[in-house]
Amino acid sequence: MRDADRPSGSPDQTADGSSLPALRFGDVDPTDSEALTRWLRARVRGFHEAEIETDADLERFASSRDRTLRAVFDDSEEHSEIPVGTLSAWETAVRLPGALGSASRPVAARAISAVSVAPTHRRRGIARSLITRELRDARDQGLYLAVLTATESAIYGRFGFGPATRGADYALDTRRARWMAGAPAGRVRLVPREELRSVAPEIDAEAHAQVAGEILRWPNFYDRMLGLTPDRRGAAASLRAVRYDDESGRPRGYALYRVGASATDPREKDASVIELVAATPDAYAALWRFLADLDLVARVQVRLRDVDEPIAWMVEDPAAVTKSNERELLWARVLDVPEALTARGWAAADALTLHVHDPLGIAEGSFRLSTDAEGRAEVARLDRPGGEAADAGLRLGIAELGALLLGGARAETLARARRVLFDHREAPARLDRMIGGERPPRLSSVF
Ligand SMILES: CC(C)(COP(=O)(O)OP(=O)(O)OC[C@H]1O[C@@H](n2cnc3c(N)ncnc32)[C@H](O)[C@@H]1OP(=O)(O)O)[C@@H](O)C(=O)NCCC(=O)NCCS
Repeated sequence: MRDADRPSGSPDQTADGSSLPALRFGDVDPTDSEALTRWLRARVRGFHEAEIETDADLERFASSRDRTLRAVFDDSEEHSEIPVGTLSAWETAVRLPGALGSASRPVAARAISAVSVAPTHRRRGIARSLITRELRDARDQGLYLAVLTATESAIYGRFGFGPATRGADYALDTRRARWMAGAPAGRVRLVPREELRSVAPEIDAEAHAQVAGEILRWPNFYDRMLGLTPDRRGAAASLRAVRYDDESGRPRGYALYRVGASATDPREKDASVIELVAATPDAYAALWRFLADLDLVARVQVRLRDVDEPIAWMVEDPAAVTKSNERELLWARVLDVPEALTARGWAAADALTLHVHDPLGIAEGSFRLSTDAEGRAEVARLDRPGGEAADAGLRLGIAELGALLLGGARAETLARARRVLFDHREAPARLDRMIGGERPPRLSSVF
C-alpha cells in the first residue's frame, strides 16, 4: 500500500474503546480515482453487487465523489489496499414539520450510506465502530440529526435510529378507473427528458415543502433518474417524460414512466412510474389521468408513495387501487434533543417532560418541552430530573424520539408497544396533539 492511501485515524481502537487488531480507520480521498475505485470495489462486494469493471460501472457511483468516504483497512490481508469496511456520509437537508399549516422546514443533517463490511470480516464490530464514529463526528460538527435508508432494517435501532417515514406501492387497474371529478384545466405535455432536467428540481422543491420527510436530492440524482448518465443510457431508451403546466403555463408537476409487458398477464402492458411529482392537486390528478388513459396499459404501478395516497379517493371504485408493500424508509437519529425539538413546528400548546435514554450516550437527558400556540417550542434541560417526573413525564429511547420527530409515529401507539413509558395515562395523547399530523411524512428517494 502506498503511503498516500494510508488512512489517518486511530490504528486499532473502535469508537467504543474495544480493540480490533490490525484494523485502521480513515478517509479515502474521493478525488483520487484509484483509491475511489478500491473503496467502491469494497462497497459493491459488501452489498453482493456486480464488480466494477468499466468506466460506466464507475459512473453509477458518481455521487461518491462529493461525499466523505470512510474506510477500514486490515493490514494483515493480502490485498490490504482494499477496505474491509465502508461508509459514506454527506451533509443534506431534511424537511421537518412546519407549524400548523405552514411549509416544512429544511434542517441540516448528516446523511449516511454505503455501510458495508467484507463478508470475511463480519460480526467483529466494524460496522458498529464506523456508525458510532460517524454519529459522534456529526454531533461534534454541530449537527443534531443523522438520517439513512436501510437495506437491513434490523440493524439501526441499536444505534438510536428510529423509523421516521413510511411508504407504500400502489397499482391502479385502468379498466376500473372512473374518475370522481372533472379533468384539471392545465395541460400534460410529453417532453424530452433533457428538458425536465432544469425544471424537475424546482417542482420538487415546491412539492417537498408541503410535507415533512424528504431530503435534498443531490445533482447526480436527477441525471441518473432521467437516464442522462452514460450507465443509464441503454435502459433509458424506453423512458418517457411528461410535464404538467397549469392554466397559466407554469410547470407544476412531472412524471417519468415506461410501458412494458405486464408481470401478471403477458397479453397486457403495465406502465411503471419511476417518478411522479406534483406541486398542486391539479397536477397530481392530471398526471394520474394521463397515465391511466395510456393506450394498451392495463395497470399503472407506482412505488414509494405516501401511506395515505389520494389516488384511492379519486376513482369511483376504491378496489381499482391496490396498496402493497408498506414499509419504513427514512431512519432518523437525534443527536441533540433541544435543538431537534425546537427545529420543528408544533401543532398545539402544552408542556411535557421527556426522559430520553440514548444507548450511545450522545443525546441522553431529561428535558422540559413547552410549545406555544404559534407552533414554537422551548426546551429546557433538567438538571434534577427526579423533581419533574411527576409532571406528565414520558420515558423513551432516542430511537423512539427519532420515530416521533417527523410525525410518522404516534406516541399512543409506541406507548401501547411499551416503547414509550408514562406516569400519567394522558401523556402520550398530549404529546401526539403537540406533534400533530396533518399529513404523514414521506421520503420518495432511497439513498
Ligand atoms: C450489515 C453489516 C454492515 C454489519 O457489519 P458487521 O461489522 O458485521 O456488524 P457489527 O459486527 O458491527 O454488528 C453491529 C451490530 O449489528 C448486529 N447486526 C449486524 N448485522 C446484522 C443483520 N444483518 N441483522 C441484524 N443485526 C445485525 C450485530 O449483531 C451487532 O449487534 P450488537 O453490537 O448489538 O451485538 C454487514 O453485515 C454487511 O456489510 N452486510 C451487507 C451490506 C448491508 O446490508 N449493509 C447495511 C446497509 S443498510
